[in-house]
Order: sequence, then C-alpha cells, then structure tokens
Amino acid sequence: AAVPVDGDRKVLLAAPRGYCAGVDRAVVAVEKALEHYGAPVYVRKEIVHNKHVVSTLQERGAVFVEETDQVPEGALVVFSAHGVSPAVKQSAEDRNLRTIDATCPLVTKVHREAVRFARAENHILLIGHEGHEEVEGTYGEAPDHTTVVNNPEEARTVQVEDPDRLIWLSQTTLSVDETMEIVTILRERFPNLQDPPSDDICYATSNRQAAIKKIAPAADLVIVVGSANSSNSVRLVEVALEYGARAAHRVDFAEQIDESWFEGVATVGVTSGASVPEVLVQRVLTLLAEYGYGDVEEVVTAEEDILFSLPKELRTTLKAAG
Ligand code: F3S
Repeated sequence: AAVPVDGDRKVLLAAPRGYCAGVDRAVVAVEKALEHYGAPVYVRKEIVHNKHVVSTLQERGAVFVEETDQVPEGALVVFSAHGVSPAVKQSAEDRNLRTIDATCPLVTKVHREAVRFARAENHILLIGHEGHEEVEGTYGEAPDHTTVVNNPEEARTVQVEDPDRLIWLSQTTLSVDETMEIVTILRERFPNLQDPPSDDICYATSNRQAAIKKIAPAADLVIVVGSANSSNSVRLVEVALEYGARAAHRVDFAEQIDESWFEGVATVGVTSGASVPEVLVQRVLTLLAEYGYGDVEEVVTAEEDILFSLPKELRTTLKAAG
C-alpha cells in the first residue's frame, strides 16, 4: 500500500480508556500507606498489572512479593486489586501481618456471589482464565463448588453433577462477546443455568471494549497501551482485530512502537487498559505526532464518574492521624 500523504494521517483516541476506579483506589492505597507508615510497604503480587506503575511504586519503597510468607512477621502488606482467596487472608493472619485490602469492590462483589451461591449448594461455572490472580481468588472462595471454564471449547465439554443447580460467574476483565458466546454454549447444554444477579464483567472493561469497537473499523492500526499480563488490555487488542482494525499491537511504552507498523497507515486508533496511567498514552501521542499523526480526534462512547473510597483499614488509620 502507498504511504499516505501527511494530510490523511490522523489518530482516533478512545474514551474511556486507562485507569478505572478500582486501579486508582489500589494505587492510591499504596501511595498513602507509604506516606503514612514509610517504606517498606509490602504488596502481595503486582498491585495492578502495569509495569510502569509497579516500578514507580518500587522506587518509592513498595516491596512486591509473590506470597505472604515472604513478608516479615508483623509487617504491613497490601493485597492487590485482583483480590485474594480466604486462604491467603488466613496465612497473613497466621503470620500476624497487618493488612490493607485493595481488592477492587467489583471483584469483592463476585467473591460474595461465589460464597452465597456455593452456600446454597449450587455449582459455579467460573468463566475466566485459569492462573489469573483474580480467578485464583474467586475460585478460592468455594473451591469444592467451582469449575473454571476458560474458553468456548471447555464450555462444550465441561461436566457437572447437577445441571439444575448451576450458576455462571465470571472474571471482571473478559471479552464481553466471548463471554456471551460461552454462556450461550453452556445454556444450550444446561438450560437451567442461572445468570449472576448482575454483570460480573465490570463497567470499565465493557466501556473500554465498546470504545475500541467504535474506532476499529476505521483504523489501519490500533495501538493498545497496557502490560502483557493485563487481561483487559490484551482483550482490547483482540476486540480491535475482531472489529476490523487492519493491525493491532500492545505496548507497555511508546519506545516499543516499531516504525514499520506505520507503512500504508492513515488512521491510528489509540486506547489503554484499565491499569494504565494517562502519561503513557500521552507519550504515545507525542511519538505519533513525530511520525506525522498529530491530528487527534477523541471518540467518546461513555462518561465515567465512578470513584471508590479507600480501603477501610487505611481510611480508619488516616482519619485517626487527622
Ligand atoms: Fe475493578 Fe474493573 Fe478496574 S473490576 S479494578 S473496575 S477493571
């Protein structure tokens, strides 16, 4: 394809993009803990799945560990936005750790559903990616009553004991379309499958997907800012391609953008995952302008004004400290 003339080049910038309320709250929780208690503040797992956020907090004195047994007895540990199983909470208690739970309230909601439906002797089909921290946490609420369904293939083969006492729940950051496809397959096999009381895929995930769907058909190239282990960011690349983007790439940083991607490209779509600070998107836009894509049009498909208050433990401490 011919390289377009400068006048043709433009950027369609998705809105909403970037930080969701749960990520914002989790990152601020670690920052406030560092301010109030001083370093080190231990954090179990990456507080949110973003390289830049993790390294910035590390520089300020946060210490990221895989498990609570790596935290010294009696020290302070923050649980990440993705949530933890009751077993993890118990192990922290056994080691006398002080904890700040930065689990996103929308993940906690899914945990509560899991507990409630398992208590009522239902079996839970948990749609999500095995090995993802959020799925480990939700699964851990009712391991004897839960089966993880990773994809449509597994939906076709999963076996259940009692098809009349069955509910599906999901990870909060999945592809909306693929989840519906999985539910359709499950419902064909198990007509009495119950729906969750409200959507488990969160507002931020579905809004970011809706925004990129709007842009993708017109985009020769879509750039998604986000880390490789960020489920919702990776889904944005898939959704862009499904909805007609000619190419789509995920980058952590602007420096990873490859000049060859721009060959024959007139319109570039840009978005970012829910754990991505806006500064990283702005750096991508600066770089795009250097390549001649300085004309930026923001495509707004929804307004977001959700804000979560800080974790309870922290609120109480900060209040007492005045
Ligand atoms: Fe929460 Fe959704 Fe963000 S579950 S952490 S609001 S991506």
